[in-house]
Amino acid sequence: MNRRTFLSAATITAVTAGMAPLLTGRAGAEAADTPGERADALLAKMTAAQKEALVRCDFQALTGPGIPALTMVDASAGLRGEKGVTAFPVPIAQAASFDTDLVKNIGTAIGTEGRAKGYNNLLGPTVDITRTWHFGRQAEGMGEDPVLAGELGTAATVGMQSRHVVATVKHFAAYTQETNRFFTDVKVSDRALREVYAGPFRRILRAAPTTSVMMAYPKINGSFATQNPALFTLLKDDLGLTGYTVPDFWAGDDQVAAARAGMDLAGLGPGGVKLTAGQLTDGSISTERLDDAARRILTAMYAGGLFDHPLPAPADNVSSRAHQDLAHRAAVGSTVLLANRGAALPLPASLKKIAVIGPAGTDTYTGIAGSSYVDPGSWTTPAQAIRARAGSTAVVTAQGTKGDVPLTPVPAGALRTSTGAAGLGVSYYAGGEASGTPLATGTASNIDFTSAPVDDLPAVWSAKWTGTLTPTVTGLHRFSLLPAGTARLKIGSATVVSGTRHSRRFFLGPFDYPLHGTAELTAGRPVTVEITYTNATADTGTCGLTLGWQPESLIPAAVDAARGADAAVILVNRVAGEDMDHQQLDLPGDQNQLISQVAAVNSRTIVVLNTDGPVAMPWADKVAAVLQAWYGGRGMGTALAAVLFGDSDPGGRLPVTFPKDATQGPGTSQAAYPGVNGTVTFGENTAVGYRYYDTKNQTPRFPFGHGLSYTAFTHGSLEAAWDKAARQATLAVTVTNTGTRAGTAVVQVYATLPSGAAAEPRRLVAFRKLALAAKASSRLEITIPADDLTVWQSGKWQLTPGTYTLAVAHSSRDLTAQRAISVS
Ligand code: BGC
Repeated sequence: MNRRTFLSAATITAVTAGMAPLLTGRAGAEAADTPGERADALLAKMTAAQKEALVRCDFQALTGPGIPALTMVDASAGLRGEKGVTAFPVPIAQAASFDTDLVKNIGTAIGTEGRAKGYNNLLGPTVDITRTWHFGRQAEGMGEDPVLAGELGTAATVGMQSRHVVATVKHFAAYTQETNRFFTDVKVSDRALREVYAGPFRRILRAAPTTSVMMAYPKINGSFATQNPALFTLLKDDLGLTGYTVPDFWAGDDQVAAARAGMDLAGLGPGGVKLTAGQLTDGSISTERLDDAARRILTAMYAGGLFDHPLPAPADNVSSRAHQDLAHRAAVGSTVLLANRGAALPLPASLKKIAVIGPAGTDTYTGIAGSSYVDPGSWTTPAQAIRARAGSTAVVTAQGTKGDVPLTPVPAGALRTSTGAAGLGVSYYAGGEASGTPLATGTASNIDFTSAPVDDLPAVWSAKWTGTLTPTVTGLHRFSLLPAGTARLKIGSATVVSGTRHSRRFFLGPFDYPLHGTAELTAGRPVTVEITYTNATADTGTCGLTLGWQPESLIPAAVDAARGADAAVILVNRVAGEDMDHQQLDLPGDQNQLISQVAAVNSRTIVVLNTDGPVAMPWADKVAAVLQAWYGGRGMGTALAAVLFGDSDPGGRLPVTFPKDATQGPGTSQAAYPGVNGTVTFGENTAVGYRYYDTKNQTPRFPFGHGLSYTAFTHGSLEAAWDKAARQATLAVTVTNTGTRAGTAVVQVYATLPSGAAAEPRRLVAFRKLALAAKASSRLEITIPADDLTVWQSGKWQLTPGTYTLAVAHSSRDLTAQRAISVS
């Protein structure tokens, strides 16, 4: 359930509107003082009530001490909820770039736009570790590896904060699923918590200790992250945060307990209700804790330059040509060429005709739904960009599939009750089981409601609709359910669609969250249908269901278009967002059928995945090439055209492992995902991502770090040594572009620890991205600090003496050279 249902977008606006910039300016300290000293000097002049007002986010009360209001906006891929801003690729795409300079530039651009729009506290970057492919917000994080997410999260944070804003790194910690997100109790070992989930934060805070951190929704080992003293100790004492903590909006259940445990900006608590004046000065929390919280907020504000650089008046359009070019480069740099048989890509200029199939227009997804959605404004769609770039090659388009959208409601005319009336028979029940004695029965002309269809239903209710459906055409029919709750469609004895959505769409972001299925049906031949539904799993107090269909398949026309073309580029998509998890690895709807049928008639079939992560690829051996385009922001179309035609090398590598099927990877049992009785057990311990596949000897579809180039790179022999005095490993390797065109290499370094460390087979310890001209070489020298080779054992970080094997690699499963070093 999702308590956030009760809170409208207006509530968020109210929270932030109350933070309009007030008085700004120097507040009584010398410029040479450190941020901490300036915070202390100001604190010494503040009353307890003023300190409390700061902690409660009541900036109206702080005009006296001249403290500027914090103005917040979500900002992982650009500014949420604004017009005239730049939509960058989603964070998982940024992670796929493996490019710290690029991500720093994106951070700087978002910081620049944030300030220009009147915000001085940007809620991002997000570095939640991808634990399972189910996670509906995986696109908002930076992948499955703590070093990758940590390095790129650092780049984003440092970039943003260079523009005189405070970044809020999200979400601490172990937030890995949307199902039951407000209440899930995560059982995670101390070691996994520190090495994996807190790993990115550890790196970011080393570089930017005065930043701020958002505490996550779930409970960690029994206590809400927002109210969990052990988590605050970890963050502040061990990881070194000297800035402030803030709760995720509406997290936890007790703001005073949160403030006592270590929440600094404690005012944004459960229910969006601010603490009222006096709640923290009545002895509920110690004066030391109140001082500490206020000092941390002020320290981050001084360090960020918020006192010295007052915000400008907000501008309408803050997206510049330079930022738009950066968005294009970022989308190129994050596009992963997963497979490329027979050098199908880049498309040669000699092709006479290309068919562009699938959601390639404004139905392309540029971002994730929810609090990180960024309006792309006017942008060039893939179809437009391909057409513009194709030159003398003709481009034909065919829709092929509607992609991941709800379909139009099945009309009464196609349905018959058991007594022959138009529509379906329906029975309503108390509780979630759709069984027992009905509360009411009747006839429904169709299924399409967003409030209780009959009066007097209890808070939790269920329903069953039955009857027949008579098709008017023969062939593949698509069906969709758009529930707030759990629903299932059976045709005959087969379950065609089933699943749960807590909400039909999140209140931020423009996408619905439908569930899909297909069935082959014959014109004029009735089939029995049964739809069951309950709102027991919907966001509290809500209900809704739409049964949609698409009787006429768009696939035959797309196959015709592909048959007459020299190449077929098929875009397929999947919606992702807040308050939803993926329940199936399969592409939604008829998209697998579309790909298979097009590939059967066109040997140069290129699949472009407009998804947030892995999908099953039953057609993998039948298509010529596969590109992972993620949700690429406003530059997605032009970047795709540049990559398809070979103007740019596909620069991305996978920041997450792509499983072959849903049996692989962590989270395959109910206890591990989505949990039993509200408890999720991270039984895989530290074996997250590729570490799991390595530990379990599973061969994924595509390994972590994988991605092809249009050229080829070799690694020379590896030099490696342990520098005991400096407590670091040093290594050097020469990378050569052996091909005939320029390209971008991503050199990955993995370490295998001695057995005493009881670690997984290997872990990423460094990566470098470099552009190399044809036949060019470059010598890379990399140092790996001891910290990156330590493990958390017996309650402390330990560097296990013994033999470490360092390997350079193209991916976690493609090691090119190895060298053992002895660490003492
Ligand atoms: C999200 C946060 C976000 C906040 C404010 C929450 O639902 O989890 O990431 O910062 O909303 O929009």
